[in-house]
Amino acid sequence: MKGILLAGGAGSRLYPLTLVASKQLQPIYDKPMVYYPLTTLIEGGIREICLISTPHDLPRYRQLLGDGSGLGVSFDYREQSRPEGIAQAFRIAESFIGSDPVTLILGDNIFYGGDVFHQAFSQFCAGAMIFGYRVHDPERYGVVEFDSAGQALSIVEKPREPRSNYAVPGLYLYDNSIVEIARNLKPSPRGELEITDVNSEYLRRGQLRVQKLSRGFAWLDAGTSSSLHEASAFVQTIEKRQGIKVGCPEEAAFRRGFLSLKTLDDLAAAMPRCEYREYLVAVAEEARRSS
Ligand code: DAU
Repeated sequence: MKGILLAGGAGSRLYPLTLVASKQLQPIYDKPMVYYPLTTLIEGGIREICLISTPHDLPRYRQLLGDGSGLGVSFDYREQSRPEGIAQAFRIAESFIGSDPVTLILGDNIFYGGDVFHQAFSQFCAGAMIFGYRVHDPERYGVVEFDSAGQALSIVEKPREPRSNYAVPGLYLYDNSIVEIARNLKPSPRGELEITDVNSEYLRRGQLRVQKLSRGFAWLDAGTSSSLHEASAFVQTIEKRQGIKVGCPEEAAFRRGFLSLKTLDDLAAAMPRCEYREYLVAVAEEARRSS
């Protein structure tokens, strides 16, 4: 399974914050937003990652993340010259996808809790898999309607009258037919290639699975000033209470076996003295004690 991390878009809802740095580079508590979805991919065992952003912001991502070798992954950077829809990512990344299945994660989506995606990635074999998460304001999202047996009946993008409280989070798994589906998509009335149209096409083919995420799981999106602030508060609460870091790609890469203990030591040693470095040193020490 390959991974696409979509980190473009106009960022207009966060203006003027986004005048100098794109939305997905804004801080969520103690690290850049993009670290969180990146960590989700790494925790899920994904090593080949295509990061898509605007021509203006792409150099900053390269500066932040490099070629990925420091994390035991590889990054392929691609430009989206205009924000013409989430599903445009599959056209931009077509040669990266090749003949493999692929997962797409949105750069402003933060997931926390459990091993659900690692299991989904490792068990995925065909069709498409998306998730449903109960929210109080479904009209802001793609919304799934279920029948009484729990089968998906429809998916509607930002419906005025939602047929359920289940929003579709920004993490999607597709088999290789995504390449052909994305090629044949037509722009929606708002002029975008819609991810909801991709999911509806898999549903029409009888190849869509929608897994409900349990209530103990946290999904946050950080697309507005309020949700940015709330996401920071959430991460701060968990980190202070548990003494762990949420969205730490170096730790995830180490725990997934992408990095040796020695490489983790070296990564930490190359950082300036700061809380982030101390945390990685503590992760390495704990691993050494328990080995
Ligand atoms: O957060 C989950 C929701 O994401 C889903 O429930 C919706 O079905 C899906 O359409 C999307 O809705 P949003 O209103 O959040 O989409 P937005 O246009 O804000 O884009 C989401 C992220 O993708 C954002 O970080 C910017 C990035 N993006 C978006 C577009 C349209 C791009 O990089 N390029 C694009 O062309």
